[in-house]
Amino acid sequence: MKILIATEKPFAKSAVESMRAMIEHEEYDLRLLENYTDKSELLEAVSKADALIVRSDKITADVIVAAPNLKIIVRAGAGYDNIDLDAASERNIVVMNTPGQNANAVAELVMGLAVYAARNMFNGKSGSELKGKKLGIYGFGNIGRLVAKLAQGYGMEVSAYDAYVKKSDISDAHVTPIYSPTDLFKENQYVSLHIPATPDNLKCVDWPLLKSMPQGATLINTARKEIIDETAIKRALRERDDFKYVSDIAPDCADELKEAFPARFYATPKKMGAQTAEANFNAGVAAARQVINFIQNDDTTFQVNKKK
Ligand code: 3PG
Repeated sequence: MKILIATEKPFAKSAVESMRAMIEHEEYDLRLLENYTDKSELLEAVSKADALIVRSDKITADVIVAAPNLKIIVRAGAGYDNIDLDAASERNIVVMNTPGQNANAVAELVMGLAVYAARNMFNGKSGSELKGKKLGIYGFGNIGRLVAKLAQGYGMEVSAYDAYVKKSDISDAHVTPIYSPTDLFKENQYVSLHIPATPDNLKCVDWPLLKSMPQGATLINTARKEIIDETAIKRALRERDDFKYVSDIAPDCADELKEAFPARFYATPKKMGAQTAEANFNAGVAAARQVINFIQNDDTTFQVNKKK
Protein backbone atom coordinates (compact mmCIF):
# COMPACT_ATOMS: atom_id res chain seq x y z
CA MET A 1 0.00 0.00 0.00
CA LYS A 2 1.57 3.30 -1.09
CA ILE A 3 0.64 6.45 0.80
CA LEU A 4 1.75 9.82 -0.56
CA ILE A 5 1.92 12.97 1.56
CA ALA A 6 2.04 15.85 -0.94
CA THR A 7 2.35 19.26 0.67
CA GLU A 8 3.45 22.33 -1.23
CA LYS A 9 3.46 23.99 2.22
CA PRO A 10 4.95 21.26 4.45
CA PHE A 11 3.77 20.11 7.86
CA ALA A 12 6.07 20.68 10.86
CA LYS A 13 8.83 18.06 10.98
CA SER A 14 7.45 16.56 14.20
CA ALA A 15 4.06 16.02 12.53
CA VAL A 16 5.64 14.24 9.55
CA GLU A 17 7.69 12.03 11.88
CA SER A 18 4.55 10.93 13.72
CA MET A 19 2.70 10.29 10.48
CA ARG A 20 5.65 8.27 9.19
CA ALA A 21 5.75 6.17 12.36
CA MET A 22 2.04 5.37 12.10
CA ILE A 23 2.17 4.50 8.41
CA GLU A 24 5.35 2.44 8.61
CA HIS A 25 4.05 0.62 11.70
CA GLU A 26 1.35 -0.80 9.42
CA GLU A 27 4.10 -1.71 6.92
CA TYR A 28 2.79 0.66 4.27
CA ASP A 29 5.15 2.65 2.04
CA LEU A 30 5.30 6.38 2.66
CA ARG A 31 6.37 8.80 -0.03
CA LEU A 32 6.85 12.44 0.87
CA LEU A 33 6.62 15.25 -1.68
CA GLU A 34 7.21 18.58 0.05
CA ASN A 35 7.82 22.13 -1.15
CA TYR A 36 7.15 21.18 -4.74
CA THR A 37 7.05 24.10 -7.14
CA ASP A 38 5.74 22.51 -10.32
CA LYS A 39 2.57 20.53 -10.87
CA SER A 40 4.52 17.96 -12.91
CA GLU A 41 6.18 16.83 -9.64
CA LEU A 42 2.76 16.16 -8.13
CA LEU A 43 1.55 14.38 -11.27
CA GLU A 44 4.59 12.10 -11.18
CA ALA A 45 4.31 11.45 -7.43
CA VAL A 46 0.62 10.44 -7.50
CA SER A 47 1.12 7.94 -10.32
CA LYS A 48 1.70 5.02 -7.94
CA ALA A 49 -0.20 6.24 -4.87
CA ASP A 50 -3.09 4.28 -3.35
CA ALA A 51 -3.77 7.00 -0.78
CA LEU A 52 -3.03 10.70 -0.79
CA ILE A 53 -2.74 13.18 2.09
CA VAL A 54 -2.68 16.88 1.17
CA ARG A 55 -3.23 20.35 2.61
CA SER A 56 -4.34 23.19 0.30
CA ASP A 57 -2.69 21.43 -2.64
CA LYS A 58 -4.89 21.59 -5.73
CA ILE A 59 -6.14 18.14 -6.58
CA THR A 60 -7.72 18.82 -9.93
CA ALA A 61 -9.18 16.31 -12.40
CA ASP A 62 -5.83 15.87 -14.20
CA VAL A 63 -4.12 14.95 -10.93
CA ILE A 64 -6.81 12.33 -10.34
CA VAL A 65 -6.38 10.99 -13.88
CA ALA A 66 -2.63 10.71 -13.22
CA ALA A 67 -3.32 8.53 -10.15
CA PRO A 68 -4.89 5.30 -11.47
CA ASN A 69 -4.54 3.40 -8.14
CA LEU A 70 -5.91 6.14 -5.91
CA LYS A 71 -8.66 5.08 -3.48
CA ILE A 72 -8.67 7.82 -0.89
CA ILE A 73 -7.67 11.49 -0.57
CA VAL A 74 -7.54 13.07 2.88
CA ARG A 75 -7.32 16.84 3.06
CA ALA A 76 -5.51 17.41 6.38
CA GLY A 77 -7.56 20.44 7.34
CA ALA A 78 -11.07 21.82 7.12
CA GLY A 79 -11.76 23.35 3.68
CA TYR A 80 -11.77 20.95 0.74
CA ASP A 81 -12.46 23.43 -2.05
CA ASN A 82 -9.01 22.51 -3.42
CA ILE A 83 -10.19 19.04 -4.41
CA ASP A 84 -12.26 18.24 -7.48
CA LEU A 85 -14.93 16.20 -5.72
CA ASP A 86 -16.80 15.33 -8.93
CA ALA A 87 -13.67 13.91 -10.55
CA ALA A 88 -12.93 11.91 -7.38
CA SER A 89 -16.50 10.62 -7.04
CA GLU A 90 -16.51 9.63 -10.70
CA ARG A 91 -13.67 7.22 -9.87
CA ASN A 92 -15.20 6.14 -6.52
CA ILE A 93 -12.31 7.78 -4.69
CA VAL A 94 -13.25 8.64 -1.12
CA VAL A 95 -12.43 12.23 -0.10
CA MET A 96 -12.24 13.21 3.58
CA ASN A 97 -11.23 16.23 5.63
CA THR A 98 -10.12 16.36 9.27
CA PRO A 99 -12.65 18.78 10.79
CA GLY A 100 -11.65 20.73 13.88
CA GLN A 101 -8.06 19.50 14.01
CA ASN A 102 -6.45 22.83 13.09
CA ALA A 103 -9.28 25.07 14.36
CA ASN A 104 -7.54 26.43 17.44
CA ALA A 105 -4.55 27.68 15.43
CA VAL A 106 -6.86 29.61 13.10
CA ALA A 107 -8.90 31.03 15.98
CA GLU A 108 -5.77 32.30 17.71
CA LEU A 109 -4.64 33.96 14.48
CA VAL A 110 -8.00 35.73 14.23
CA MET A 111 -7.38 37.38 17.58
CA GLY A 112 -3.83 38.27 16.55
CA LEU A 113 -5.12 39.94 13.40
CA ALA A 114 -7.83 41.74 15.38
CA VAL A 115 -5.26 43.18 17.80
CA TYR A 116 -2.93 44.07 14.91
CA ALA A 117 -5.72 45.97 13.16
CA ALA A 118 -6.91 47.68 16.36
CA ARG A 119 -3.32 48.93 16.92
CA ASN A 120 -3.02 50.30 13.36
CA MET A 121 -0.66 47.52 12.23
CA PHE A 122 1.77 48.60 14.98
CA ASN A 123 2.60 51.83 13.16
CA GLY A 124 3.23 53.82 16.33
CA LYS A 125 -0.08 55.75 16.32
CA SER A 126 -2.66 55.36 19.10
CA GLY A 127 -5.04 52.53 18.39
CA SER A 128 -7.97 51.06 20.28
CA GLU A 129 -8.81 48.04 22.43
CA LEU A 130 -11.01 45.07 21.67
CA LYS A 131 -12.71 45.12 25.08
CA GLY A 132 -16.33 46.23 24.84
CA LYS A 133 -16.35 46.09 21.02
CA LYS A 134 -18.83 44.02 19.05
CA LEU A 135 -17.65 41.02 17.05
CA GLY A 136 -19.87 39.22 14.54
CA ILE A 137 -18.83 35.72 13.54
CA TYR A 138 -19.95 34.65 10.07
CA GLY A 139 -19.97 30.84 10.15
CA PHE A 140 -20.34 29.09 13.50
CA GLY A 141 -18.39 25.87 12.91
CA ASN A 142 -15.34 24.60 14.78
CA ILE A 143 -13.31 27.76 14.20
CA GLY A 144 -16.15 30.23 14.72
CA ARG A 145 -16.96 28.66 18.10
CA LEU A 146 -13.36 28.93 19.29
CA VAL A 147 -13.08 32.52 18.08
CA ALA A 148 -16.21 33.31 20.12
CA LYS A 149 -14.63 31.96 23.30
CA LEU A 150 -11.34 33.77 22.78
CA ALA A 151 -13.08 37.04 21.92
CA GLN A 152 -15.24 36.79 25.04
CA GLY A 153 -11.99 36.44 26.99
CA TYR A 154 -10.99 39.82 25.55
CA GLY A 155 -14.30 41.25 26.77
CA MET A 156 -15.87 41.53 23.32
CA GLU A 157 -19.63 41.25 22.77
CA VAL A 158 -19.98 38.29 20.44
CA SER A 159 -22.79 37.38 18.04
CA ALA A 160 -22.90 34.91 15.14
CA TYR A 161 -24.76 34.01 11.98
CA ASP A 162 -24.68 30.61 10.32
CA ALA A 163 -27.28 29.50 7.78
CA TYR A 164 -26.78 25.85 8.79
CA VAL A 165 -26.60 26.07 12.58
CA LYS A 166 -29.71 26.30 14.75
CA LYS A 167 -30.10 29.62 16.58
CA SER A 168 -30.54 27.65 19.82
CA ASP A 169 -27.13 25.99 19.31
CA ILE A 170 -25.58 29.45 18.98
CA SER A 171 -27.25 30.71 22.15
CA ASP A 172 -26.31 27.50 23.98
CA ALA A 173 -22.70 28.50 23.28
CA HIS A 174 -23.41 31.84 25.06
CA VAL A 175 -23.28 33.76 21.78
CA THR A 176 -26.07 35.99 20.45
CA PRO A 177 -27.65 34.48 17.32
CA ILE A 178 -28.13 36.82 14.35
CA TYR A 179 -30.74 36.19 11.69
CA SER A 180 -29.05 37.33 8.46
CA PRO A 181 -25.65 38.35 7.05
CA THR A 182 -27.14 41.83 6.55
CA ASP A 183 -27.79 42.17 10.28
CA LEU A 184 -24.42 40.65 11.17
CA PHE A 185 -22.51 43.30 9.22
CA LYS A 186 -24.83 46.16 10.20
CA GLU A 187 -24.53 45.43 13.92
CA ASN A 188 -20.85 44.60 14.35
CA GLN A 189 -17.77 46.79 14.20
CA TYR A 190 -15.64 43.64 13.85
CA VAL A 191 -16.66 40.79 11.55
CA SER A 192 -14.69 37.56 11.27
CA LEU A 193 -15.34 35.19 8.34
CA HIS A 194 -15.54 31.42 8.83
CA ILE A 195 -17.59 30.20 5.86
CA PRO A 196 -16.39 27.78 3.18
CA ALA A 197 -15.81 28.76 -0.46
CA THR A 198 -18.88 26.94 -1.78
CA PRO A 199 -20.47 28.20 -5.03
CA ASP A 200 -23.19 29.93 -2.97
CA ASN A 201 -20.62 31.89 -0.96
CA LEU A 202 -18.41 33.17 -3.79
CA LYS A 203 -17.96 36.96 -3.52
CA CYS A 204 -20.76 37.04 -0.94
CA VAL A 205 -19.00 39.72 1.13
CA ASP A 206 -19.95 42.65 -1.07
CA TRP A 207 -20.12 46.44 -1.00
CA PRO A 208 -23.61 46.78 0.57
CA LEU A 209 -22.45 44.64 3.52
CA LEU A 210 -19.17 46.55 3.93
CA LYS A 211 -20.90 49.89 3.56
CA SER A 212 -23.37 49.02 6.31
CA MET A 213 -20.71 48.22 8.96
CA PRO A 214 -20.55 50.58 11.96
CA GLN A 215 -17.86 53.23 12.43
CA GLY A 216 -14.36 51.77 12.88
CA ALA A 217 -15.25 48.71 10.81
CA THR A 218 -12.71 45.87 10.70
CA LEU A 219 -13.11 42.78 8.55
CA ILE A 220 -11.02 39.72 9.39
CA ASN A 221 -10.68 36.97 6.78
CA THR A 222 -8.96 33.72 7.70
CA ALA A 223 -11.31 31.68 5.51
CA ARG A 224 -10.88 31.98 1.72
CA LYS A 225 -10.19 34.90 -0.63
CA GLU A 226 -12.94 33.71 -3.00
CA ILE A 227 -15.73 34.65 -0.55
CA ILE A 228 -14.79 38.33 -0.82
CA ASP A 229 -15.71 40.65 -3.65
CA GLU A 230 -12.31 42.32 -4.11
CA THR A 231 -13.74 45.36 -5.87
CA ALA A 232 -15.88 45.95 -2.77
CA ILE A 233 -12.83 45.70 -0.49
CA LYS A 234 -10.99 48.25 -2.64
CA ARG A 235 -13.99 50.53 -2.59
CA ALA A 236 -14.45 50.22 1.18
CA LEU A 237 -10.80 51.09 1.80
CA ARG A 238 -11.04 54.02 -0.63
CA GLU A 239 -14.39 55.46 0.47
CA ARG A 240 -14.28 54.70 4.22
CA ASP A 241 -11.22 56.02 5.99
CA ASP A 242 -12.32 54.07 9.09
CA PHE A 243 -12.40 50.66 7.34
CA LYS A 244 -9.69 48.03 7.89
CA TYR A 245 -9.18 44.68 6.22
CA VAL A 246 -6.87 42.04 7.70
CA SER A 247 -6.54 38.74 5.98
CA ASP A 248 -4.69 35.43 6.03
CA ILE A 249 -5.35 34.92 2.33
CA ALA A 250 -3.92 37.73 0.27
CA PRO A 251 -6.37 39.10 -2.28
CA ASP A 252 -5.17 39.26 -5.90
CA CYS A 253 -4.81 43.04 -5.53
CA ALA A 254 -2.76 42.77 -2.28
CA ASP A 255 0.28 44.72 -3.54
CA GLU A 256 -1.87 47.64 -4.63
CA LEU A 257 -3.75 47.70 -1.30
CA LYS A 258 -0.57 47.41 0.77
CA GLU A 259 0.90 50.39 -1.05
CA ALA A 260 -2.24 52.55 -0.83
CA PHE A 261 -3.49 51.68 2.68
CA PRO A 262 -0.55 50.53 4.83
CA ALA A 263 -2.31 51.34 8.15
CA ARG A 264 -5.66 49.78 7.16
CA PHE A 265 -4.79 46.70 5.09
CA TYR A 266 -2.70 43.69 5.99
CA ALA A 267 -2.40 40.23 4.47
CA THR A 268 -0.06 37.48 5.62
CA PRO A 269 2.55 36.72 2.93
CA LYS A 270 1.61 33.02 3.09
CA LYS A 271 -1.51 31.44 4.60
CA MET A 272 -0.57 31.02 8.26
CA GLY A 273 -3.85 30.03 9.97
CA ALA A 274 -3.06 26.34 10.35
CA GLN A 275 0.71 26.79 10.40
CA THR A 276 1.48 25.76 13.98
CA ALA A 277 3.27 22.63 15.17
CA GLU A 278 0.14 21.67 17.11
CA ALA A 279 -2.29 22.12 14.21
CA ASN A 280 0.07 20.32 11.82
CA PHE A 281 0.38 17.45 14.29
CA ASN A 282 -3.35 17.20 14.98
CA ALA A 283 -4.45 17.42 11.34
CA GLY A 284 -1.58 15.33 9.95
CA VAL A 285 -1.93 12.52 12.47
CA ALA A 286 -5.73 12.53 12.05
CA ALA A 287 -5.26 12.26 8.28
CA ALA A 288 -2.85 9.32 8.65
CA ARG A 289 -5.23 7.63 11.10
CA GLN A 290 -8.19 8.13 8.74
CA VAL A 291 -6.25 6.66 5.80
CA ILE A 292 -5.26 3.60 7.85
CA ASN A 293 -8.82 3.10 9.16
CA PHE A 294 -10.17 3.35 5.66
CA ILE A 295 -7.70 0.84 4.25
CA GLN A 296 -8.11 -1.61 7.11
CA ASN A 297 -11.76 -1.18 8.14
CA ASP A 298 -13.45 0.61 5.22
CA ASP A 299 -14.12 3.43 7.70
CA THR A 300 -15.54 6.38 5.76
CA THR A 301 -16.19 8.70 8.71
CA PHE A 302 -15.48 12.28 7.56
CA GLN A 303 -16.13 11.46 3.89
CA VAL A 304 -17.19 14.67 2.14
CA ASN A 305 -17.95 13.46 -1.41
CA LYS A 306 -20.98 11.54 -2.43
CA LYS A 307 -20.78 7.81 -3.02
CA LYS A 308 -21.36 6.79 -6.66
C1 3PG B 1 -8.06 24.65 6.25
O1 3PG B 1 -8.98 24.69 5.42
O2 3PG B 1 -7.90 23.69 7.02
C2 3PG B 1 -7.15 25.84 6.40
O3 3PG B 1 -7.42 26.79 5.44
C3 3PG B 1 -5.68 25.48 6.46
O4 3PG B 1 -5.11 25.26 5.21
P1 3PG B 1 -3.59 24.77 5.07
O5 3PG B 1 -3.53 23.34 5.48
O6 3PG B 1 -3.25 24.96 3.63
O7 3PG B 1 -2.73 25.61 5.95
